[in-house]
Amino acid sequence: MASKALREIKSVLSKLEKQSILEKTRQADITPEKRMLAITPQTARFYHKLLISIKAQNILELGTSSGYSALWFADAILSNGNIPKITTIEASPIKIQMARVNFEQAGVSDFIKIIPGQILDVLYAMPKKPRYDFILIDADKENVVRYFDLVLPMLKIGGIIGTDNVLLPEKYKKFMQRYSRHISKNKHIVTGTIPLGYGQEITMRIS
Ligand SMILES: C[S@@+](CC[C@H](N)C(=O)[O-])C[C@H]1O[C@@H](n2cnc3c(N)ncnc32)[C@H](O)[C@@H]1O
Repeated sequence: MASKALREIKSVLSKLEKQSILEKTRQADITPEKRMLAITPQTARFYHKLLISIKAQNILELGTSSGYSALWFADAILSNGNIPKITTIEASPIKIQMARVNFEQAGVSDFIKIIPGQILDVLYAMPKKPRYDFILIDADKENVVRYFDLVLPMLKIGGIIGTDNVLLPEKYKKFMQRYSRHISKNKHIVTGTIPLGYGQEITMRIS
């Protein structure tokens, strides 16, 4: 059962990686509302290994898009022999539909809950108890500081927040520098930047 699920996930991931190359190299005319804007394959493989090593099972993601990163998370959790519990938040109905199709094709719809809506609204309504092993922040950059403050209480001690785009593209620099300054003052975490993909901030909650 698990090996069949893993094969199906890999097949959808392979399709999405081909689509992502076409998108990034502008070989296909993809309208802005359908662009995947996914983490890079190298970043995905890094998070995959990280999630396996910390035995993550309960994951929150801000910014679903086509579901590429969430599928990697599901794969990591299933590879550990656990049942994934992934919650991912997305505002765009087109992206939600794309992700639903991909989760269906990969056979993981039962493990991934998409919450439609604006991330801030959804986070305000969520209980602030520590229950997530890993949280990926990968949505609009203007709100990244507020997202961090809202999700930190939901992260277990020893859990990790990954934040994409801390180094690239240049247009996000102002927001990401503010993010960096903001989290560096927090005594409940240890954090560091990895120059992988568009730059990952890896933050562990320690108290
Ligand atoms: C960079 S993409 C996410 C890529 C995805 N994590 C992956 O690697 O496959 C960011 C997504 O966040 C969504 N988004 C941006 N701002 C949002 C907001 N305020 N509320 C909900 N969704 C938002 C966008 O529609 C987009 O699909």
